[in-house]
Amino acid sequence: MAQTIRWGILGCGKIANKFANDLKLVEDASLAAVASRDEARAQAFAQQYGAPTYFTSYEDLVSAPDVDVIYIATPHGLHHEHAMLCLQHRKAVLCEKAFTLNSRQTVEILQYAKAQRVFIMEAFWTKFLPQYQKVTEIIQSGVLGPIKWIQADFGFNPEPPVAPRLTNPLLGGGALLDIGIYPVFLAQSLLGIPVDIQAVATFYDTGVDEQCSMVMKFSSGAIATLSATLSAHTPVEAVIAGTEGRLLMKNRFHNAIGTVEIAMGKDEPTPIEVHREEGYGYQFEARHVGECLRKGLTESPVMTHNDTLQQMQTLDRIRAILGIRYPVD
Ligand SMILES: NC(=O)c1ccc[n+]([C@@H]2O[C@H](COP(=O)([O-])OP(=O)(O)OC[C@H]3O[C@@H](n4cnc5c(N)ncnc54)[C@H](OP(=O)(O)O)[C@@H]3O)[C@@H](O)[C@H]2O)c1
Repeated sequence: MAQTIRWGILGCGKIANKFANDLKLVEDASLAAVASRDEARAQAFAQQYGAPTYFTSYEDLVSAPDVDVIYIATPHGLHHEHAMLCLQHRKAVLCEKAFTLNSRQTVEILQYAKAQRVFIMEAFWTKFLPQYQKVTEIIQSGVLGPIKWIQADFGFNPEPPVAPRLTNPLLGGGALLDIGIYPVFLAQSLLGIPVDIQAVATFYDTGVDEQCSMVMKFSSGAIATLSATLSAHTPVEAVIAGTEGRLLMKNRFHNAIGTVEIAMGKDEPTPIEVHREEGYGYQFEARHVGECLRKGLTESPVMTHNDTLQQMQTLDRIRAILGIRYPVD
């Protein structure tokens, strides 16, 4: 593996722009090539972010010899197809969340990646952010006591025209897979697999969820209340409470601008200092992928294949309760 990790970006939409911006902050990484179905978009994207090559077909990108790893930035309904395409060409993959539409697709991809001996990781950027790492350190120190209660929300009201990927079942539409996945990730990464889940939702005419709320119970006796909406701007905050104290992840708990406060007992919360960098925060996961590739790993030790599979399985369980089906189910 070359010292400089040469990235390719598959799909030049919104998140691809943010990722390409942050890739500039990653040492020993370069944007080697991008691919878009639209030539003008591919060309403009390559020019804006300094990629020497652009393609108008995803097949051409995955066949490019001077690309080490591909960031898949298409809607989640297409992740299975695009991840398999990369793996067929033995390209390492960083695939946006939700990793796939269901756990069957996840298993297929992970098994194929193992057979091909090629690196693949879900782009669950929150897990690599300094404030999430600080939160896990504090919880592991035991100062909060056993965690008994988590509350987390993620909601926004998209400006019209609403992107088809948010409502179209073929593309993996719905609040749960798009943004509900963050509260689910937080609860599951801190408390393990839920032993019981209850859920309610409201639906778009297309059958996917416009809003959903889940209550989960864990074997430790902890409870989590989680919700997501594509119809209202919500605080996007999380509270993690133990018997002795609580953490407040404020002002967009899942992303790099989030702040963290701690309150012991009935005290008022006080801020906790968190490492900050310029950029949106995607550089942390990109750096980690580079480290994994330089070490010759085929799986991240931080966002493991099992983490992705168990997360997908929980999303499947929630969808089964809510009666949300995708055409591939
Ligand atoms: N980590 C995060 O913070 C974050 C934030 C937002 C979204 N995401 C995830 O990133 C993925 C993309 O989201 P986005 O907001 O960037 O979406 P987007 O703006 O709609 O971009 C998706 C891109 O996928 C490509 N594409 C290929 N086939 C498509 C099809 N049939 N319909 C629509 N697009 C198609 C298009 O690229 P070309 O036309 O250029 O080929 C399109 O620009 C989703 O899985 C989403 O969950 C992650």
